[in-house]
Parts: sequence; structure tokens; C-alpha cells
Amino acid sequence: MSTPKRYTITAALPYTNGPIHIGHLAGVYVPADIYARYLKMQGEVVVFVCGSDEHGVPITIKAKKEGVSPQDVVDKYDGIIRKSFQDFGIAFDNYSRTSAKIHHETAAAFFEKLYKEGKFIEEVTQQLYDDEAQQFLADRFVIGTCPKCGNEESYGDQCEKCGTSHNATDLINPKSAITGNVPVLKETKHWFLPLDQYEPWLKEWILDSHKKDWKPNVYGQCKSWIDDGLRPRAVTRDLDWGIPVPVAGGEGKVLYVWFDAPIGYISATKEWAARENKDWEPYWKDQDTKLVHFIGKDNIVFHCIIFPSMLKAEGSYILPDNVPANEFLNLEGNKLSTSKNWAVWLHEYLEDFPGKEDVLRYVLTANAPETKDNDFTWKDFQQRNNSELVAILGNFINRVVVLTHKYYDAEVPEPGQLNETDENILAELRAYPAVIASSIEKYRFREAQAEMMNVARLGNKYLADEEPWKTIKTDEARTKTVMYVALQVAAALSSICQPFLPFTAKKLSTILNLKKNISWPQIASAEALLAPQHVIGKASLLFEKIEDDAIAKQLEKLENTKKMNQAEQKSVEGQKETATFEDFTKIDLRVGTIVSAEKMPKTKKLLVLKVDTGLDTRTIVSGIAEHFSPEEVVGKQVTVLVNLAPRKLRGTLSEGMILMTENAQGELVFVNPDEAQVNNGSTIA
Ligand code: MF3
Ligand code: ZN
Repeated sequence: MSTPKRYTITAALPYTNGPIHIGHLAGVYVPADIYARYLKMQGEVVVFVCGSDEHGVPITIKAKKEGVSPQDVVDKYDGIIRKSFQDFGIAFDNYSRTSAKIHHETAAAFFEKLYKEGKFIEEVTQQLYDDEAQQFLADRFVIGTCPKCGNEESYGDQCEKCGTSHNATDLINPKSAITGNVPVLKETKHWFLPLDQYEPWLKEWILDSHKKDWKPNVYGQCKSWIDDGLRPRAVTRDLDWGIPVPVAGGEGKVLYVWFDAPIGYISATKEWAARENKDWEPYWKDQDTKLVHFIGKDNIVFHCIIFPSMLKAEGSYILPDNVPANEFLNLEGNKLSTSKNWAVWLHEYLEDFPGKEDVLRYVLTANAPETKDNDFTWKDFQQRNNSELVAILGNFINRVVVLTHKYYDAEVPEPGQLNETDENILAELRAYPAVIASSIEKYRFREAQAEMMNVARLGNKYLADEEPWKTIKTDEARTKTVMYVALQVAAALSSICQPFLPFTAKKLSTILNLKKNISWPQIASAEALLAPQHVIGKASLLFEKIEDDAIAKQLEKLENTKKMNQAEQKSVEGQKETATFEDFTKIDLRVGTIVSAEKMPKTKKLLVLKVDTGLDTRTIVSGIAEHFSPEEVVGKQVTVLVNLAPRKLRGTLSEGMILMTENAQGELVFVNPDEAQVNNGSTIA
């Protein structure tokens, strides 16, 4: 895009079914904040919006579990999230919520317009229904095997393993998340967005126009979906929590949460504009506006395929210029999980480490999962604080400030003739803003932040080489020049670190007694950033060492979580409801021997087994490939459920099931009839 006139920057609206953790921050909010802060510093016209995503099944599930209303759940977490973002310095221009009136109106009007213009297909189809709960099973109310990757815990609308978005009826072996029952099919009317009709356009827009500028992980995912062929997607649901479908026949139905939530970006902009007395429309409709969505990788399909198709269907909106999605951050080697409490929660961090907002920002950016999943460890957190923030940035500033106080009574000294080293340092300094800007504009925030630290390294090395603490005794004039140059570097840092470390930038401005923020073009120019005779402020430490006991405390917290999770897992599952003798006699369990095994191509979990059941030798597809190699299982005797209704898995008909259990270590083990050999086909009763 040629030079944009303004920027609309969005950060994924967090679900209000739990607080914010470091995974959210590293994936979405810290990079978005760096980008928005950077642009604003450059004097660009920017709106940076976010808000609480308050509809959708996860919230209803949470409410059920806690025995409260969905409204209670969203109010609680909206409060926690809102405050933690603010305390952490994520500088949204507006943080809205999708329960806001303006959002209900905006989303409903959007739907109505598409409806009136015939952009939807209206169709009565069979949907999954839980007879016991008397409820349709949309989205996260249903769990089953992903038709694409074999993940057995895929949700109805999306598989979190492979990111594919599908229809609930595509799931293999679906189960109700409410009762555990196998759902039945029941007819119901819904409205579908015919994504297939947008396929040619999406091909052109993404595959042709954004091949170069979108991140490879984002582009690759889009390409794979488009290549697989797109199908119409229902944009309404039979649920009672959400935005009511605003057209005739929509009674008792709501908009699909992924239809309403991204419109939340628009509503949040409207709300902001009304407050600021501005016009919201150019931010969404003017071709000169650059729209950028910051999201995690599980949101790619919605922001690159579905929402753009909605915007295209509506017709008056611009499309995202880029969607710089990140991969995931893990914690101490394990996947972050809200339900397993495996996380560093932002609001808890802020309590445990008061005044250390920037330390977390720094570590998350240094380890940002920009191109692959990454790991957060408390050891690394401590190390980066102590040997980078304290030892490099903090140390440089402290030396400059303390010496200026000591030698010159806090006054910036008048420099003498600059020598070649001084000139080189200043020339290097002047080059940094362009280097860092270029990284930020390419969404490479780790690289940008590393360059910022290089500015501090430059200053440190200069001081170490010039040793003003020695020359002060021998050459006062030279010392003045060196201190003057070092002060220019310190002043530049107060501005360069601002997008990454906003609290530190403020502190540093106070320490240097800057009356006005220094701009990046100023740093790049030859003018003095701190003029001689300027009096700096009091010295104070930018960063403090983090001691071992603070880290040990955090590790202990995680250790406790682990223990609790293990205890929960070990606790014996409750007994299922009574089976009558007739029920039992229906089940035909036999002893069988695995005679051959091979991996199902293109899957991680599935083995295709041939099992001699005594009755016949049949094919059984089993999800054990992550626990056993094909070689290991051949020859094993196993318990086989032989009269399970056959079903197709990845195109292969599976005629039965082998029984497995887990040992205390959580490893999968066979349910062997006996160590001694038993004849194949022997019944188990
Ligand atoms: N709530 C979703 C999540 O946490 C993100 C919604 S982004 C929006 O994954 F575009 F829908 F707003
Ligand atoms: Zn999958």
C-alpha cells in the first residue's frame, strides 16, 4: 500500500471466560501495542481498538459450571481483563465489549444488510442435537475427531490442533460436551455465508496479492484452506446467549460468535469516535486507511477468510492490509491452558512483581513466538532481567546519570572537539531509528527490540572504552566530551525504548529531566538531544535484580498446579449409569492378535491394524500412533470390541475397537487378556 493516511489497528477480542495470560500477551497484545505506540510516536493517525468478546459457547459453559449467569461471567472477567490491560500499559484507544448496545446494533445491522441483499443462503439442515440437554450442539458444545488431522478433541466449529474451521456435522464420533451423549440429528433453519462464492476473489486477494507481505505461517494456512475448497458456513446458531438474529424466522436464534465478534472492532471504533468527536467511517471505509489485525494463530481462518468475506459481501469496507498472526507460547515446556490453570496470569504477575511491567513486556518480546512456538521459563525471565535489562540498559543509564551528577552537578557538559570515535558513535546512533522502524514495519518485534538493546550496548562499550572515571583525573576536557556523547545516547534511548518499554521510557525521561519527548527523526538528525547546561534529574535505578527466591516462588506455584492436575487425573472416574444385563450382552468382546500395523499416511495419531479376531482378520483404525510404533504392536494380544458399528476414518473402514487404558504415568497400555496366550476369538465376559 502507498503511504497510508491513517491506521486502524485491532487486537483480538479476548473471550471473557478467563483472565489474560502470558500466551495472549506474547501472541497478540504486546506486539500490537508496540506497533500502535511506534506509529503514534511517528505522528501517524492511529486508532487502536480491542474489547471483550462476551458471546459464544465458552462463556455459557463457564457459567453453567460455576452456577451463575453468563452475564455474571462476562462482567467478572471483563473487569479483570480491562484492569490488567490498563495496569500493564496496553494503550488501547478504546477497549469496548460486545455486550455494549452499540455493538448489538452494529452487528445486527450488518447482518440485516447482508440478509436484505441476498448475500446469505437460508437453509433447513440437520444439526447435532442433545436429546437429554434438549439443546442443539453448536461450536464448543460438541467435541469429536477432526476430519482433517485426527485430533480427538476438536470442537464443533474449529480444531485447535490444526486450526481448521469446520461444520459441527463434519466431526467424526461427535459427543455432547454437556452430557457426554452421542448427539442425534435434528432439523433447524440457519443462514449461511457461501464462502465458496468468495473463493475466486480470495485466491486473487490473498494468494496473488499477499504472497510477499503476509507472514509465511499465515499465508500457508490460508493457502491450504483455499486449496481444500471452501464451503458455506452457518453464521447463526440455536443458542440463547448472543445477539438475536434480527430477521423474520430468526426467533430463538443468535448470531454465530465469530460473525459478531470481529464486527466488534468496528463497534469499538464507533464508540471511540463518538467519544472523541471524530468520524469513524474513514477508519473503516477509506482506501487510504491501513487495517492491521493482531491475532494468535488459532484465529487466522476467521480474520483472513471469513471476516474479509463478510466485509467484501457488505461492500463498503476496506480489507486488512496485514494479519501478522503469531504462533503459540508455551510455559515451562507445556502448552498454556486456562482450564488446567497452566499459565502466568497477568493480574497475578502484576501483583507479584509490582513495578515490573516492562520486564514482562521485554521478555515476551525477546521470546515472541513470531515464526514458531516458543517457551517461557522463569529462569529465562530472571536471566533476561538480570543480565540484559539490569546489566546492559540499566547499567548504562545509571553510569551516565551518576557520573553527570558527580562530575558536573547534574549539568550536561559542553563538549570539546569530537574525535573519530565520538563521531562514529553518534553516526551509529543516528542510524538506529531507521533500522528499528524497518523491523517494526515488517512486524519483526523481536528483532526491533534486540536493536534497541544494541543502542544500550553501544553506549556501554563506549563508556568502557573511554573510561571517563579514569580520564576525569587526567583530562577534564576529554571527559566532558565523552560524557556529552554518552548523554546523547541516553537521551536517544528514552525515545527508542518507548514502544517496547513504555514505563521505562517515562522513568528515563524523568531521570533526564526531558521537557519534551524526543522524536525518532530528531535522533536521526545531527541536532543535540541534550544541550549543554541542561540539568538532568535525580538518579534512580531503571531495573532491579530479580533474586532466586522470587523465581523459586513462581516455580513452586506451577509445581502445585501440576500436582493438583495429576491428583485430579488420578482420581477415579465416576461410575457410568447402570447398564442392564441386556445392554451388557450386546457387547461382544474377543481376544485378538494384531497381525500387522502401519501408520495411516498424513496423520500423527492413527495406526491401521489388521487384527485376527478368531472370527476373521479385519481392519481396525486406532489412535495410538503417538504411543506405539507399528513394529511394537505386531504380535500383541489385545481385547477387541468386535461388534462396534463400522465407521470410516480418513477413508479407511474401521471394524471394531481395541481396548486400551492408561497406567499411573499416563501412558497408554493394552488391556491384555492375560500374559499367557489365549486363543483368538475367545469371548470375554
Ligand atoms: N475471542 C476470540 C479468541 O479469544 C478472538 C476473537 S477476535 C474477533 O480466540 F475478531 F472476533 F474479535
Ligand atoms: Zn484438526
